Amino acid sequence: RFGDYSTIVVFGASGDLAKKKTFPALFGLFREGELPSTIRIIGYARSKLSDEDFKSRISANLKGVTNENKHKVQEFLNLCSYHQGAYDQPEGFKDLETEIKKYEDKHSITKPDRLFYLALPPSVFTAVAKNLKEHVYTKEGRVRLVVEKPFGHDLASSRELQKDLAPLFSENELYRIDHYLGKEMVKNLVVLRFANEVMGACWNKNYVRSVQISFKEAFGTEGRGGYFDDVGIIRDVMQNHLLQVLTLLAMERPVSFDPEAIRDEKVKVLKAIGDIETDDILLGQYGKSEDGTKPGYLDDETVKSDSKCVTYAAIGLQIHNERWEGVPFVMRAGKALNESKVEIRIQFKPASKGMFNSVERNELVMRIQPDEAIYLKINSKIPGISDQTSVTDLDMTYSKRYSKQFWIPEAYESLIRDCFLGNHSNFVRDDELDISWKLFTPLLEHIESKTGPVPESYPYGSKGPKQLRSFLNKHGYVFEDQGSYEWPLTTPN
Ligand code: BG6
Repeated sequence: RFGDYSTIVVFGASGDLAKKKTFPALFGLFREGELPSTIRIIGYARSKLSDEDFKSRISANLKGVTNENKHKVQEFLNLCSYHQGAYDQPEGFKDLETEIKKYEDKHSITKPDRLFYLALPPSVFTAVAKNLKEHVYTKEGRVRLVVEKPFGHDLASSRELQKDLAPLFSENELYRIDHYLGKEMVKNLVVLRFANEVMGACWNKNYVRSVQISFKEAFGTEGRGGYFDDVGIIRDVMQNHLLQVLTLLAMERPVSFDPEAIRDEKVKVLKAIGDIETDDILLGQYGKSEDGTKPGYLDDETVKSDSKCVTYAAIGLQIHNERWEGVPFVMRAGKALNESKVEIRIQFKPASKGMFNSVERNELVMRIQPDEAIYLKINSKIPGISDQTSVTDLDMTYSKRYSKQFWIPEAYESLIRDCFLGNHSNFVRDDELDISWKLFTPLLEHIESKTGPVPESYPYGSKGPKQLRSFLNKHGYVFEDQGSYEWPLTTPN
């Protein structure tokens, strides 16, 4: 792990990502005693800001502050300072080096640990990486560079970025964040699958009929339309977040918890995914809400008036290996829907007929957010003199099972902690990234070509395009008549 006198530099410190995610995560780690109270945190950005302005900006977003721990806010801010500088000129970086060196010398550090966090748009990644390498790199100690998506716009641009970064920072020094890998339930997948023989036994084509990974957001692109219009939902959350979840869900058992052993297995399963069929997709764009109170996507002045940008997509995938051949995997994601929810649904094959002609299929649901839960829908005898069956569940809802004494870190807290520890398991490796773009680029080119499909309009606040149900049916998912069964918080839709 990094030492007690490490330096963290956050580039893009005056931006949104740093304000909403990076600094709150650093504070969360500090609050929980996971960051030494002797480290140095420097915010670097182009804006002219005084140290005071900078600190009041960050403090506005710090979370988990209570009466008991409120003194920690000031202690945290005392570790932070602001450094103004350009991204493409050496001066700011040279001054940064002097500042860091002064701190390290004061504590007689001869093998410095420096973590550079790029909360920046990719257009300046390379310039910053170059300047860092030239002016702030240390050969004597350890350097870690954290980068955030988007890692390119397609296969060619992603390779270009890789080509630029590779001579500057080794793969071992690079930490590519996909924040879904830091989510508690996503981290639990490996344990759930491989530490439970019963799960392992049915986790294959012999028992599983269909798999869904579903991402729903109850808000549109308000305020981010300009960014989103060139990106679309597939690049925004599927090529990265949902695909990462899928690989953990489908990979073979790694030989150990060694980060490379895990990432090797992820790469293998990614390579087994068949081409995405361009006629096996469902695309949507949200319009006004039915009551007219919420704007449609095209009402946003920052998007092109005739934009075909996809705000909803469902995609069917096949994994061509011994475990999964023939099992449909569906990834679906949408903005401006009826609720915010991310979950995995594994529907099993029906019980054999004979004794039971009308029992429902088992379904395992892993809710990633909100309110982490794992529940398995099962058939059970109605208690008492009845010999009928009904659907019920084995339910492991975290908030009911685990008391508040557990601190479940936010995704960014968990990942920055991993980076501090030098654990690459939950970061995206270069070959993973390359394969994911290879998989999605032909689909994106098809969708974004002049003759590409026109997305179906769905009302803001609805369940998405009308054809969703038949799309899911086509991919093996059966909407069961579950009688009066309802999981306390949700039903599939
Ligand atoms: C980001 C996307 O990567 O993930 C956003 O750019 C999306 O559009 C967000 O809202 C979802 O993350 P979370 O953690 O809120 O589910």
